Amino acid sequence: MSKIIAFAGKGGVGKTTVATLVVRYLTSTGKSPVLAVDADPNSNLGETMGMNVTTTVGDIRENFMKDPQGVPSGMDKAIYIESLMNQAIIETPNFDLLVMGRQEGHGCYCMVNNILNNFTDSLASSYKYMVVDNEAGMEHLSRRTSGKVDILYLVTDYSLRGLRALRRIHGLLDGLKLSVKKMGIVVTRGPEKLSDIFLAEAKEIGIPILGVIPDDPALLEFDMEKRSLLELKDSSPSVVAVNRIMEASC
Ligand SMILES: Nc1ncnc2c1ncn2[C@@H]1O[C@H](COP(=O)(O)OP(=O)(O)OP(=O)(O)O)[C@@H](O)[C@H]1O
Ligand SMILES: [Mg+2]
Repeated sequence: MSKIIAFAGKGGVGKTTVATLVVRYLTSTGKSPVLAVDADPNSNLGETMGMNVTTTVGDIRENFMKDPQGVPSGMDKAIYIESLMNQAIIETPNFDLLVMGRQEGHGCYCMVNNILNNFTDSLASSYKYMVVDNEAGMEHLSRRTSGKVDILYLVTDYSLRGLRALRRIHGLLDGLKLSVKKMGIVVTRGPEKLSDIFLAEAKEIGIPILGVIPDDPALLEFDMEKRSLLELKDSSPSVVAVNRIMEASC
């Protein structure tokens, strides 16, 4: 069974960036096979990894829903949908990527979603790590990870507002039927020494701070040049920081 790593935190704090650098760490240290899952409907994990995504699970689901009777004769519906889903997995030499894409529209998607959940469950057994980058809210995480997460990184920028968002997310966890084995705070764009006020607020939440990722100008540069963050130098401050966090927590 694979280890599921997921991220939570308010919008724009750096979840996708950290998720990409986590994939970078896992593949560069031989902790493979890795499946990166882009579970954000406004997906961009593929972009940060420099990949051209043409097929998403959402597209496949919508196409199927348009013609649910289009299952080849004699073929089991679940097997047919799973075979379609397999087409959404983008393989690279170092890791695979699955992009969930758009969310379901109106109508009854229960059957397809059940098959999809079983499919993701069975995928989990083929990979050592699943790195799930999701959107800012937490609502979908439980649905998209079959309710189990091994490590949840609570990502915040260096602000009290960011920390308060984490407190709210933490408060939501129980109601989400999500079982989280281990969690910790990751501060992005933080200084070397965090202020006492910030540390005190974090202490009140009661979750350990696992590490601080400094402001890294190379991230903006790579974004502007549409380059994959997987190509960042080993010495880049963000890479060094994420590697350190992973070594300590994984
Ligand atoms: N440590 C850092 N140093 C400099 N820039 C950073 C850092 N971390 C993130 N950024 C930049 O901040 C922006 C937002 O980052 P990112 O997309 O990873 O956030 P997000 O939490 O995934 O956002 P969303 O909630 O919209 O999915 C990006 O332009 C990214 O390059
Ligand atoms: Mg994101």
